[in-house]
Amino acid sequence: MSVQAPSPVGLRVETDVALITVDNPPVNVLSRAVRADLLAALRSTLADASVRAVVICCAGRTFIAGADVTEFGKTPEPPHLPEVTQVIEESSKPVVAALHGTALGGGFEIALASHYRIASRDAKVGLPEVKLGLMPGAGGTQRLPRLVGVAEALQWITTGNPVDATRALEQGAIDEIADGDLVQAALSSAHRLIEAGRPPRRTGQLHVPPADNAVFVEIESATRKKQRGLLAPQYCIDAVRAACTLSLAEGLKRERELFLELRASPQAAALRHAFLGEREVAKVPGLASDIAARAVKQVAVIGAGTMGGGIAMCFANAGFPVRLLEVDAQALERGLGFVRNNYAATAARGGLSQAEMDKRLSLISPTLSYADLAEVDLIVEAVFEDLDVKRKVFEQIDAVARPGAILATNTSYLDVSAIAEFTRRPQDVVGMHFFSPANVMRLLENVRANKTAPDVLVTVMKIGKAIGKVAVLVGDSDGFVGNRMLAQRNREAYFLLEEGATPRQVDKVLTDFGFAMGPFAVGDLAGLDIGWRNRKARAHLRKPGARDCNLLDKVCAMGRFGQKTGAGWYRYEKGSRVPIPDPAIEQLIIEHARQAGIAWRAIDDEEILQRCLYSMINEGAKILTERVAARPVDVDIVWLHGYGFPAWRGGPMFHADQLGLANVHAAILRFSDRFGPDFWTPAPLLAELASAKKGFYPSAVTAPAIIC
Ligand code: NAI
Repeated sequence: MSVQAPSPVGLRVETDVALITVDNPPVNVLSRAVRADLLAALRSTLADASVRAVVICCAGRTFIAGADVTEFGKTPEPPHLPEVTQVIEESSKPVVAALHGTALGGGFEIALASHYRIASRDAKVGLPEVKLGLMPGAGGTQRLPRLVGVAEALQWITTGNPVDATRALEQGAIDEIADGDLVQAALSSAHRLIEAGRPPRRTGQLHVPPADNAVFVEIESATRKKQRGLLAPQYCIDAVRAACTLSLAEGLKRERELFLELRASPQAAALRHAFLGEREVAKVPGLASDIAARAVKQVAVIGAGTMGGGIAMCFANAGFPVRLLEVDAQALERGLGFVRNNYAATAARGGLSQAEMDKRLSLISPTLSYADLAEVDLIVEAVFEDLDVKRKVFEQIDAVARPGAILATNTSYLDVSAIAEFTRRPQDVVGMHFFSPANVMRLLENVRANKTAPDVLVTVMKIGKAIGKVAVLVGDSDGFVGNRMLAQRNREAYFLLEEGATPRQVDKVLTDFGFAMGPFAVGDLAGLDIGWRNRKARAHLRKPGARDCNLLDKVCAMGRFGQKTGAGWYRYEKGSRVPIPDPAIEQLIIEHARQAGIAWRAIDDEEILQRCLYSMINEGAKILTERVAARPVDVDIVWLHGYGFPAWRGGPMFHADQLGLANVHAAILRFSDRFGPDFWTPAPLLAELASAKKGFYPSAVTAPAIIC
């Protein structure tokens, strides 16, 4: 005897009204079973002569919150959502949707197809598909403009932002807000509709309010600017345009065509990967799920500089009391001043109330004494990037910290395992590599040193989540994952300059690819002196005899440290952050190339892109072989959240798969022929996968080989 899974859709008839309840915890996603059972429930109520109206509601904390992410990337199984929404809309009996929590995506499309929408006051509705590189595909683009008008619908659909019930009511997307029991209110509405003998009011039969073409032109130009490179917003716009010009049936057909085309696009695959990858990295292979995290209630941060101040804010923002320790009162005051100003700027922009700002500030308590760290559970060190300074700090921490406290370093490049040995408890030492500005950037590389205890790793991954970061566990390698790959890209960017490219050309190629900024503009923003100091500190690591470009030294020697000095790779007008190409830099580069005996040539954009990207991908492959990252997804998420890799390209490893590893491998071999093997020897993993016609990901669709 086979045991059937309980249905996620319940049906109960209460004096003339059928109450259909979706109960698919935790957020009532539209799984195949929900679609099928909802359809069956609808058909049975339509056939039941005792039913005169229908209410669709949900159990638990929300109405249907969207699609089932576990079905992403798979061939969807029938019944498809458009069939469900069509049956709802065409129902001969009035259908009332009762919305609470978040009625999003397909959930909101079900509501739009219903004849009457009632929501609890705290409900939110919206069509967020665009954020995943998709568009509504079950009538959302055709029905929403009929209710709220074209301009408003375009806003909702192209931004994907949720809209609260009050605004949804004002705009006509819902009919009523219920302050008391939502289901009772929906049942009462249904009874009122029956008593009034009202026929179903079908959204699809409403006229789309006329809209000027200027509305479309305006939104197209706004999306091109704000969502640069993304296909989905334009598809959404095209679908809404179809709503204005076609009948409902033809419009729905057009919407479906656009939806299917977009869903099959590489961009949608990349954005799905980015979305799922963020969840995937939290599950660390090899870390048993039954390892309990250590309790972390109080935190300390050592060093209140650029990073320490931001890190203290991260913890205070999440409600953790933080001790902030500095070397002297002046440094402490400077650091606290930075924190105060930062909060004040957020408050001034309306992002934080005065009371919340005061609360967060009160959680950060300054100190000059290590004795004050005796009770804390987690200490994050963010002092100068100097092993001797770190040694002294860790020895002092070791002397006072309670047994079992976690001791973390925010080092960018130093050996975390070596830092751990400065203490008598290396098992409690771990890297927590935040990114600048630490209170803004979402990435946190948690670094496993060679003796770090598993429960310490579990704890820092959990803490990362608690403070709103995307935490990725990485190995203890020079530059970990992100900076190690970045170093490869930067090297090529410098080489390209001395061969004939300009900073502007290199930056433009990378921004055209989708990065928010190119490497030279980023350097100017961060401060070139940081990279210069780093270069000097790491000079001994350079491969003897290998090519090295010292242009950065020359730019810094001119006192050009970037935006803060008004000039770096670019020059800046007073008070402006707009980079302006500077003939002085071009002259410097020409002179540099002449001295180095490098013949200048015209370099095309394709070569710039390939050298900048493929150098990173090759390093990524080595990182995987060395297990510095456990999976390609870890590398991708580091780049998506820490370095502005365009989400719609999925990250460097995913993008490499889309390019086809055989193509990447072949290009690297060509660069090796031209520039020598020092920096262009293909990583064995890359060579192996390319020859096996595989990708970094098992599901990679290998692109056809490009004949070069
Ligand atoms: P910073 O120079 O802005 O701040 C360092 C702070 O540490 C200073 O306020 C200094 O007074 C304090 N300090 C120095 N010795 C100390 C000691 N013995 N006890 C207590 N405080 C001490 O440096 P930044 O940029 O904040 O870097 C800190 C760490 O974070 C470094 O290891 C760096 O590699 C790392 N990091 C920096 C990033 C950046 O973009 N600036 C990004 C990620 C990591």
